[in-house]
Amino acid sequence: MTVLVTTASKHGATREIAKEIACVFDEHSVPTELLDIDDVTDLSSYEAYVVGSGIYLGNWLKNARRFLDTHAAELAQRPTWLFASGSIVGEPPVADDPDALRPGLVERLVETTQAREHKLFAGRLDTSKLGLLERAAVRVRTRARATTATGTKSIAGPRRSRDS
Ligand SMILES: Cc1cc2nc3c(=O)[nH]c(=O)nc-3n(C[C@H](O)[C@H](O)[C@H](O)COP(=O)(O)O)c2cc1C
Repeated sequence: MTVLVTTASKHGATREIAKEIACVFDEHSVPTELLDIDDVTDLSSYEAYVVGSGIYLGNWLKNARRFLDTHAAELAQRPTWLFASGSIVGEPPVADDPDALRPGLVERLVETTQAREHKLFAGRLDTSKLGLLERAAVRVRTRARATTATGTKSIAGPRRSRDS
């Protein structure tokens, strides 16, 4: 049995989490193949799937969402776990940020793939390595969330349960 562990990662944090996941499988003598999501073409040789994405502006990365939609039927046929790496809250980032993802996203991804779980891990955010646009996006999102905390306006929407 081989497990496919695949991720979409812009700055490497999600890929590193995937490596750790693959190590855990390895410790239990479960073979894995670790691939970037854009390099996966055929899912038929795997018995289970772990798919992850970095979170950007409350969403999974586009190529990861496309992957789930394209391969939904195959993912639904075998054990599938989803994870995301995010959080712009806390230093270092916290894992239990209820507003990390936009409302309804986890439910939709789980429904599409029939995944057993969607897990949110604390990611890594090194603003010194971001370009101007990304830095600005983080600032806007952080401010919006600070406003959310005061109860006035929300980009991410109301607080809700992340796990399905
Ligand atoms: C422009 C930008 C937007 C982000 N938006 C969110 C967000 O909406 N929610 C969140 O939890 N984390 C957000 N993050 C934090 C990233 O999800 C986190 O750094 C993640 O670990 C990045 O994964 P990667 O290195 O695999 O791309 C954002 C980071 C950047 C740079």
